[in-house]
Amino acid sequence: MKFKRNARPISVWRPIETDTFLVGAPHYPEHVDESFLDRDAQRMREAGFNVVRMAEFAWHIMEPREDVYDFSLFDRAIEVLGDHGMETILCTPTATPPAWLTHHYPEVLRVDVRGRPASHGSRQHADTSNPVYRQHSRRITRAMAEHYRDNPHVIGWQTDNELNTSTSLSYSRATRREFQKFLEQRYDGDIARLNLAWGGDFWATAYQSFDQVVLPMDNAPVSCSPGHVLDYHRFLAFATARFQSDQIEILREVNDGWFVFHNLGRMTDIDFRGPFSRELDFNAYDFYPLLHDEMQRLGGPGPVHAQHLDVARSHSGNFIVPEQQSGFGSQPPFATLTPEPGEMRRMAYSSVSRGADGVMFFRWRPAHFGAEIYWMGVIDHDDIPRRRYDEARQFATEVTALKDRLLGTHVRMDVGIAGADFDNDEAHKTYAMGLPSPHDDALVLHGHCYRRGIPVGFIHPEDDLTPLKVLYVPHWLIWHEAWTTKLADWVSQGGTLILSARTGSRDANNHVIHDTAPGKSLSSLAGVTVEEFGRLAPPGGDGLFALGGMYDTSGKRAVKETESSRRQYCFRLGNREFTAAHMYEHLKLAEGTDAAGRWSNRWLEGEAAISRRGVGKGQVIYMGTYLTEEMMPAFEDQFLSPAGVAPLVENLPQGLEITVRQAEDRRLLFVLNTTAEAIDLPELPSGEALVDDRAGSSLPGYGVAILDLA
Ligand code: GAL
Repeated sequence: MKFKRNARPISVWRPIETDTFLVGAPHYPEHVDESFLDRDAQRMREAGFNVVRMAEFAWHIMEPREDVYDFSLFDRAIEVLGDHGMETILCTPTATPPAWLTHHYPEVLRVDVRGRPASHGSRQHADTSNPVYRQHSRRITRAMAEHYRDNPHVIGWQTDNELNTSTSLSYSRATRREFQKFLEQRYDGDIARLNLAWGGDFWATAYQSFDQVVLPMDNAPVSCSPGHVLDYHRFLAFATARFQSDQIEILREVNDGWFVFHNLGRMTDIDFRGPFSRELDFNAYDFYPLLHDEMQRLGGPGPVHAQHLDVARSHSGNFIVPEQQSGFGSQPPFATLTPEPGEMRRMAYSSVSRGADGVMFFRWRPAHFGAEIYWMGVIDHDDIPRRRYDEARQFATEVTALKDRLLGTHVRMDVGIAGADFDNDEAHKTYAMGLPSPHDDALVLHGHCYRRGIPVGFIHPEDDLTPLKVLYVPHWLIWHEAWTTKLADWVSQGGTLILSARTGSRDANNHVIHDTAPGKSLSSLAGVTVEEFGRLAPPGGDGLFALGGMYDTSGKRAVKETESSRRQYCFRLGNREFTAAHMYEHLKLAEGTDAAGRWSNRWLEGEAAISRRGVGKGQVIYMGTYLTEEMMPAFEDQFLSPAGVAPLVENLPQGLEITVRQAEDRRLLFVLNTTAEAIDLPELPSGEALVDDRAGSSLPGYGVAILDLA
């Protein structure tokens, strides 16, 4: 395999620089008798696989006693696989420390909010911010790396496994000390600066020295300061990246030819645009589409899968999927839906169409013991390859045949949604007030574009915006002046920037700004100021606060009807009237700014609800409210179409998914049927069919067509 370290900075437009589409499976030789090794390898090869991933949970085998190593099982497995032409990706095994480690060094265990240490016996129970655990992590990483330094079959590494997916929190004394050290550095040893940043004069929360600082939420009866909470999450992200950095440094030092990635899971407390991604060669995303319970809400698996993959791509560009659901999956408390015949292949193509440059099916074979005995693999417990094996083989054969046209392309996006900003995601959570998160709001636009076949995705404003026609900023509280300068430039070249309510209303400390929102630079770019704001009920909701203080996305679990929830605020956009949701803002327009939509009742009647200002060849829209599904057709007519945004094909039938991956010299159109029923195809552009399940003018259930439009 040829792999080149990417010279380009992280970007959503960045493909992985390789000549090989990695296709294979995570493999656990430690879960079967060694007599299976050879036939497994042979079957994988016959399926067209070229890679396996191993060892992420096998520390106890590789280091049975402290400083005593035994890699022989993996040596044999790697060799047998290599003999069949398969390469190996190894993992640092730090998600599951051996029992001797947690027994001798119990201080490495996470501690919960009641002071109870995590118990050995599952995974992610060791605290990655703990200095003692970091020493052990460095030791096993070095031992493994040095052992495999010259092994020709080992091509790359995964750090740990889904960092922070089970939990990122710990309330141990050591964690608290690490937090204090982090703050001491952040505030240059000046406790007065920390007090200023956290608002120490509110509720007497000021400290006299760093060693007094507590972890937030640590038995505090009421909420801690938003500044305190934001810094805590910044610390967790810092500690996670530092833990990974320790490992990357060693791997690079031992063999700089290896690629290194991390498989993201739930993505908690990871700052993807920071060192976490910058130090990796690329990111990876474990994709368990049928595990996502948002399916019902968004009307079927298609849009849910799409948004997860689009988020995965937004951090640093194309990625690989080291774990893609292949069959029924479960742990003791839950089970997922089961992919139907053809669906496993369709889901793999969804990954590819949205930026995957490699796909591995989880897992080669299921375990007969342990906490995932019913997490099915490519082959079954009885060692018989059935339909999942056939589908994996079909996918592997097809994708390998088209890889030369696929690799090197990026996913087309005409509409970008601002995403991948750690501070903004966290700032919302520190003071949510039952409002949708930026991501929840973004999903309204994402879902609309998905259903219409409009190329959409998430992108950070610091990324290259040139290919975009529209950028939507979903209520980003924290704003940096430098972004305005960059966006102003992009708008004057013809871009349409849409800012939504509350954008720019806080500073980097998570304080409310002293200027009129959306802040000096955005106000002058958008030609608007926010004079006042008020809370509204969610769409269809009958109360303002959802249970548990969380935004209830279905809008159905609201507590009770209240006088204020009966006060509906309406606005007109285009020739229709809509009920506003979540929040209204009273906008004042500067000269040269027009009202694109107006409030149509109660005290704001006749005032601007949405503003529009021409800037150079482009325009800036400011929305004094939140998106609702109901308003999306008018939103498209008023703001997307005039910006030149159009669906890839007209009249996309429900259930059909359409995307383009392209490079300067290529355009590949992906058409996927996400349903079990055949769908009549709309007129598609003509092109050479690289994969073609079409039967006449329809695409069968879970069918795929990939056309090279040249
Ligand atoms: C992933 C994890 C795997 C396996 C899988 C199925 O999150 O990385 O080890 O547990 O889920 O639950």
